[in-house]
Amino acid sequence: MSYEKNATVIDDTIYDLVNETFEKEKNTGNPDFRNNFFNKNTGFFVLTDDGSYSVNSKEINNKIETLHTSTGAISESFEKFVKPLKLDYDNDIAILDICAGLGYNSSAAIANFIENDGKSLKIDMVEISKPTLACGLLAPSPIEAHDITRKAIEKQLIKEDYASLELEDCDIPENIEINVFIDDARQTIQDLEDDSYDAIFLDPFSQNMAPELFSLEFFNEFKRVIKENGIVCTYTSSAPVRAGLIEAGFHIGKGPVFGRKQGGTLASPNVEMLDYSLPKNDEIRIALSDVGIPFRDPGLNGESSEILESRSEERKNARHNTKISSAVKTPIFLGVDMDDEKLKRRVERNLAKMNIPSTTSEEAFYVIESEKSYNEKQSKNNNSRSRILDMVEKLDEISKS
Ligand SMILES: C[S@@+](CC[C@H](N)C(=O)[O-])C[C@H]1O[C@@H](n2cnc3c(N)ncnc32)[C@H](O)[C@@H]1O
Repeated sequence: MSYEKNATVIDDTIYDLVNETFEKEKNTGNPDFRNNFFNKNTGFFVLTDDGSYSVNSKEINNKIETLHTSTGAISESFEKFVKPLKLDYDNDIAILDICAGLGYNSSAAIANFIENDGKSLKIDMVEISKPTLACGLLAPSPIEAHDITRKAIEKQLIKEDYASLELEDCDIPENIEINVFIDDARQTIQDLEDDSYDAIFLDPFSQNMAPELFSLEFFNEFKRVIKENGIVCTYTSSAPVRAGLIEAGFHIGKGPVFGRKQGGTLASPNVEMLDYSLPKNDEIRIALSDVGIPFRDPGLNGESSEILESRSEERKNARHNTKISSAVKTPIFLGVDMDDEKLKRRVERNLAKMNIPSTTSEEAFYVIESEKSYNEKQSKNNNSRSRILDMVEKLDEISKS
């Protein structure tokens, strides 16, 4: 559990207050500490646009994030995590909820399962921080199904001697099993069985705060534990995250847009589970420029700062060597007749270092040849993954020629 000290979790003040509250509950057996917490400390909770509550993260590099989008915490869970899934509710379903936080993503999945009268649902929630899970017991439930998640969280917190009273009075339905793992997700995942999940929710803080939860090696574990038709959902559209998923063997596609300008990312071993390709320029930048270098965490135990630094170093070494410089988004001008002379000079200087004489040279068109057949709809032989891998290969060939 020592890793929690280095991980980005909730704001220090609420973290301490929640710990104190459960300590008092344990020492006195008095339920009031928990029951009165929200009314006494409402100011520590962030009300989002759909009426559900979030919490702030602790400050890292002068930056604070909320655990959920201000557009609507529980709405985000439905829109970004549950709606893109193509679950067959006639079969047993298993979901891995990574960075479970207050448990909203799991609760949205439970609500959807109940609404569809599903056969059986197993959810494995993984969260590093007890006080964060405890916040899921303290804020008002955003939806009825959250009471089921709360019961599972409370049980685990009692088992781990953090909470002591059974105050949640909801029963977990017989066809729903919820396991709560309180640990670093990078450790927990190594003990999970191969080929066992229909969906993985990946909901860490942003990549600069928690790059360790977006690494290639972590995604290799996803590939091992997910079923052939399983889907990974994450809110980010980041290039290194998408590149890491591809390198781990996934197909990738655009996820729903909610609360941000760009759509999130969906990944699956089976391309037929993904409806939409990535935008064309995203494919080009991931394939050809140094932004497409993934985060690496070889021992699944590196610190955020080490992971960020080693990626910066790798990007620096790759630029003008194995990858086109990402400066001024150079690769997206391949095949484009440019009017802006100043920008053109910069772009062509970067391209020349990779043996591509100009944006409209034969070499330029050759490298992006796979994009000629770009289609928003993914198919078995023509999809974001196949086009990206083709461009990587062609750039390699041209740069060595
Ligand atoms: C954006 S919040 C997740 C919100 C959550 N999905 C929900 O429905 O409320 C990110 C969470 O990741 C947790 N976290 C940070 N590092 C972690 C790690 N290494 N393993 C597991 N959880 C981690 C934080 O404590 C925080 O609760």
